Amino acid sequence: MSAAASLVSAPSMQITKVKEQIGAIVTGIDLAKPVDAATRKALYDAVVENVVLVIRGQSHITPAQLQAAGEMFGELMEDQNRRYLVDGFPLISVLDNRHLDSKGQPAKVGTNATWHTDHTNQEFPPKFTMLYAVAVPDKGGATSVCNSRAAYESLPDDLKRRIDGAKTENTLISSARMKTGNPDVVKAQLESQKPPTVHPLVRTHPETGTKAVWFHKSKTETVTGMSPEETQDFLQDLTDKITQPQFCYAHEYQPGDLLIIDDRASLHKAGFDYDHSQHRRLYRMLVRGDRPY
Ligand SMILES: [Fe+2]
Repeated sequence: MSAAASLVSAPSMQITKVKEQIGAIVTGIDLAKPVDAATRKALYDAVVENVVLVIRGQSHITPAQLQAAGEMFGELMEDQNRRYLVDGFPLISVLDNRHLDSKGQPAKVGTNATWHTDHTNQEFPPKFTMLYAVAVPDKGGATSVCNSRAAYESLPDDLKRRIDGAKTENTLISSARMKTGNPDVVKAQLESQKPPTVHPLVRTHPETGTKAVWFHKSKTETVTGMSPEETQDFLQDLTDKITQPQFCYAHEYQPGDLLIIDDRASLHKAGFDYDHSQHRRLYRMLVRGDRPY
């Protein structure tokens, strides 16, 4: 093998854009095999450019190979929910529609699903969220992702001025949402001594310098100058403005899909529009990020 050929571990890899503003699909790569630096860079750059990337056809890989694939994109961080982890892999957490909360009810329900970016209650939230499909329903149950960089740029100037410089105060769950929240999350927040984590409502991407609307609606206690209730209404209104179809992609999984989301330029949401007697199980990995600014 020539030196040049040995650098190409995925010679048949193809990256195909889904739509102009968001999404790309990768085929022709096997994550069970080592991936060379040039291919890793092409994948990383495709995530940043397209906001969400789907690597297809990986249902044969082991959790160790999945973790190694995740580590191509940076240092993995722990999911703050430590209840559901893959055995022996503390950096891979499990999202499963058969998980129950401590009261025996489904741990996640559709009425609690909001557009969000992950772990905003932390000082250093993840830069990438990765979701790997283990079991999926016949239809529905998509993960929707919105390019909140393109959406921000489309906003009218007066609204941009209003949100530029605004801050969010982030907790595990907003006090305005506690009545309907997961009881374990509500209990953890009520017992927490940790002050809210303050982040910008519009953040700057550390690699591209672009701005994006960036929040977790359920975790935002307040936006600057608003009560918790006003905050929920304001963020719903803002969500409606930015999650327009041209900025969004709803990915319906096939088993073995690996979705990689650039959390610094997007919001995402889980879909509950599927037959819940069917099994939906995803593995999640998070790549450590910078302090938002
Ligand atoms: Fe999420």
